[in-house]
Amino acid sequence: MADIRLEGVGHSYDGGRTWALKPMTWTWRSGRAYALLGPSGCGKTTLLNIISGLLTPTTGRIWFDDREVTTVPTAGRDIAQVFQFPVLYEEMSVYDNLAFPLRNRKYPKAEVDRRVRRVSGMLGLDDHLRRRSRRLDPGRQQIVSLGRGLVRSGVAAVLLDEPLTVVDPAMKWTLRSTLKEIHRDTGHTFIYVTHDQTEALTFADEVVVVKDGEIVQAGEPTELFLSPAHEFVGHFIGSPGMNVLPAEILDGLVRVGRAAVGRAVGDLPAGPVRIGIRPEFAVLDSAGSTPGVAGRVTGVDRMGSYDLVHVLVNGHDEPPPAERDGPPPTERTTGRTTGRTTGRSDQDGNAGHPLVVKTEAGSRFEPGDAGFVRFAADRAFLFRDAVRCGTVAPLNGRGEE
Ligand SMILES: Nc1ncnc2c1ncn2[C@@H]1O[C@H](COP(=O)(O)OP(=O)(O)OP(=O)(O)O)[C@@H](O)[C@H]1O
Ligand SMILES: [Mg+2]
Repeated sequence: MADIRLEGVGHSYDGGRTWALKPMTWTWRSGRAYALLGPSGCGKTTLLNIISGLLTPTTGRIWFDDREVTTVPTAGRDIAQVFQFPVLYEEMSVYDNLAFPLRNRKYPKAEVDRRVRRVSGMLGLDDHLRRRSRRLDPGRQQIVSLGRGLVRSGVAAVLLDEPLTVVDPAMKWTLRSTLKEIHRDTGHTFIYVTHDQTEALTFADEVVVVKDGEIVQAGEPTELFLSPAHEFVGHFIGSPGMNVLPAEILDGLVRVGRAAVGRAVGDLPAGPVRIGIRPEFAVLDSAGSTPGVAGRVTGVDRMGSYDLVHVLVNGHDEPPPAERDGPPPTERTTGRTTGRTTGRSDQDGNAGHPLVVKTEAGSRFEPGDAGFVRFAADRAFLFRDAVRCGTVAPLNGRGEE
């Protein structure tokens, strides 16, 4: 086992015109369970193939601890790789398929048997050991492939490229926890590729988020949730993802429309930014009760254990008059807004910004209600060019002008 260090590693499939993987420097620490998370085409498989030696990077160097392996072929790297679809010898029995990587490396017979039976037990293959692999369904074949990747000892890393795609959903949960167990048990470095956030978050000690061939953030699941460093991480992790709204920094205050939502923290010049707030950390109050961004409820999804309240915030410093429990209409809010708002603009025709607020189940909000959205202290972040550039601290006192 070793730390796997990528030094300026990048890959282009078209002679440098575009980069499937932009040159990156990054270390996979020995013994950790990583999830490599990102949308289709972001470069996950390319990255794995570079680590295993199936692909030589266009640029950069790869080190396993102090040993440079950039040009070392797969066989010399001692990496176990499991692919998205079954890779096995169809005419061999399940037992022989599992034993193959061990026999190939001259493990003693008794050790082969011990290891095969252990992996088979953990993956639920005991009843199939004598069967020809060709006779298994694709899901079971994939589990055998998984076993082939897990059967050896002392590998530099186990690379798993969306290994559960063809496995039936009911088995997925079990296998994910089995994989976690095997990781704990063997202490091998695991890099588990997925584009499914649940899979990533439940499996990994550390989630590495990739977008367009670049690592945009890596961290523990909680860190990615609570402190996204990139708008994409905010969107991709969380259900639903982070709300992002246009905002502005003026005199040290962050404003959404005319409403001040907090103090800008960071080395931030005045001007436009984007503010990100997760649905969990946005609070919707009835109109008039507290300062915040004025808006109108456009829909409520009753999810059972929580509600998702969709709000169109208009950036005015007061909402349109509420249909109930609100203050009386004022000149500025026109009094023409008693109807239900369903579109993306308020009744004055001003464009609004949709935002989702997560509340406890059975919230009293209904479509058409007016309200103020407040952002929980220290849970809103500022972004420029999608990258986090600052945070938002609570206002001292009220947030109104
Ligand atoms: N052999 C190849 N030749 C040319 N382009 C390729 C090749 N393999 C991948 N690419 C391109 O490189 C980029 C990254 O591909 P890669 O397969 O690494 O993405 P991925 O994150 O694994 O996607 P998926 O989730 O769909 O498996 C994509 O734009 C893809 O089209
Ligand atoms: Mg892939």
